[in-house]
Amino acid sequence: MARHLITSAIPYINGIKHLGNLVGSQLPADLFARYLRGRGHEVMFICATDEHGTPAELAAAKAGKDVADYCAEMHDVQAEIARGFRLSFDHFGRSSSAQNRALTQHFARVLAENGLIREVTEKQMYSVADGRFLPDRYIEGTCPNCGYESARGDQCDNCTKQLDPVDLINPHSVISGSTELEMRETKHLFLRQSAMKDKLADWIDSKADWPVLTTSIAKKWLNDGDGLQDRGITRDLSWGVPAQFDGAPWKGMEGKVFYVWFDAPIEYIAATQEWADKSGGDWARWWRTDKGAEDVTYTQFMGKDNVPFHTLSFPATILGSDEPWKLVDYIKSFNYLNYDGGQFSTSRGRGVFMDQALEILPSDYWRWWLLSHAPESADSEFTWENFQTSVNKDLADVLGNFVSRITKFTRSKFGEALPEGGTWGEREEALIAELTTRVREYERHMDDKEVRKAATELRAIWVAGNEYLQSAAPWTVFKTEPEQAAAQARLALNLIRLYAVLSAPFIPDATDTMLAAMQTEDRSWPTDVRAALEALPAGHAFTTPEVLFRKIADEEREDWQVRFAGKRE
Ligand code: MF3
Ligand code: ZN
Repeated sequence: MARHLITSAIPYINGIKHLGNLVGSQLPADLFARYLRGRGHEVMFICATDEHGTPAELAAAKAGKDVADYCAEMHDVQAEIARGFRLSFDHFGRSSSAQNRALTQHFARVLAENGLIREVTEKQMYSVADGRFLPDRYIEGTCPNCGYESARGDQCDNCTKQLDPVDLINPHSVISGSTELEMRETKHLFLRQSAMKDKLADWIDSKADWPVLTTSIAKKWLNDGDGLQDRGITRDLSWGVPAQFDGAPWKGMEGKVFYVWFDAPIEYIAATQEWADKSGGDWARWWRTDKGAEDVTYTQFMGKDNVPFHTLSFPATILGSDEPWKLVDYIKSFNYLNYDGGQFSTSRGRGVFMDQALEILPSDYWRWWLLSHAPESADSEFTWENFQTSVNKDLADVLGNFVSRITKFTRSKFGEALPEGGTWGEREEALIAELTTRVREYERHMDDKEVRKAATELRAIWVAGNEYLQSAAPWTVFKTEPEQAAAQARLALNLIRLYAVLSAPFIPDATDTMLAAMQTEDRSWPTDVRAALEALPAGHAFTTPEVLFRKIADEEREDWQVRFAGKRE
């Protein structure tokens, strides 16, 4: 049994996320967490809301709310939706927590003591009309790198380049739209990432097993232009972690806060402290290599736009501290999920948002489609046709039909208990051999965090059962050799339990339904497929479940197509 720390990129507090956001971090992280727990490992699965910085301030202003109240409300909304999607966080924290404030200020102090923070007096965009500086998302304009017209002051959504507001071409204030901007002097703290460039490069180079998407983005920014740039870690904002050092003021930084991207990843650690404070657990054995974390395997999940911050900025904080913090072992990153020929758009309400998805179908339907189409090697696209086909074929025709056919057949011929008699022959041996190979493949893909390949293998495992049933045809065999039909039914009913266990990372509600139908709580992983198919003995009672998955009708699909084409807000 090993110990696994898993974090999902923490979603911004400013509103409900769309399915593209979900599949890029929280959902695959949950898949992995559930799989490892199913294999008997000890897991700490952490997520949180990212509550500081300009996204939160802008959204609160738009909603006409005090920013702290807004964050508290939206945290609860996001937590509720996460439960709806069965995201099995051990803790869903808040980056505005007292723990994160203290830890962020702690890191700032040790970095300063290690000579890695310098003061910079620089000119920043000041909006005369708004009477304030315009950091990060308070300003938009054209990306100097790729020409995208709605690049934000902190990052271009199109090419992922990290930006400074002063880099933008044709900038304007997001608050007032004003272009009457001037450069005014202000003082900020910079993290000397350039001083850590070699250390970071060596570390990235040592990660030969990481996805190319992760390492290519990291290397691109490591070697960009003059190499890794120092980054401003403070902002002229009021909402955030005050720019102090273990609580002690830093002269000249009064009224400023740390940059949201400085404190957000620290929240991974702080959220574990929040969990410990609530549960009496020990956070240090997950995060401090001097307190037991040296045998933890730490995996992060995120969309590609988050990669620079996780491969460079956050590791710079950790390495620069010179303290024994656990560094990430594996960074799984994702491309973008597009929506029906374009992009998901939060501002235009284009695409399906997490709350809306749950209003129209239960979470398993979404989990299955999203994970089996995860944008791993390239961007992928949600279309309603594809969604309908996947649900109707994979879930209803293959898995659902298998469960319903064998339970109904057995009930009608033998009653609602596993029937006795008969023996396994060649067909059964062949099935066991095929399943053994496939289950090992499935494990391998899951261990490798190859989400799509794992889904494909799981589907093949379901198909194998269906094909077995089709060719064994116990309904025909029953007429001449009822004992033989009994052995087949017994095996097929045991397959339901096996499917429940293997499918749990993808479709946990269906797992619960299948286990309840088989009247068992035995979730033990099938290390030995043959033994797993004998787990439930003759005489064991079962029930015939309601329809596991319903089909999506053409009219519904057409309805949804129109409804989600975009206009929300
Ligand atoms: N809130 C960011 C986003 O949605 C992700 C932050 S991840 C963390 O893109 F590293 F900061 F925690
Ligand atoms: Zn760009």
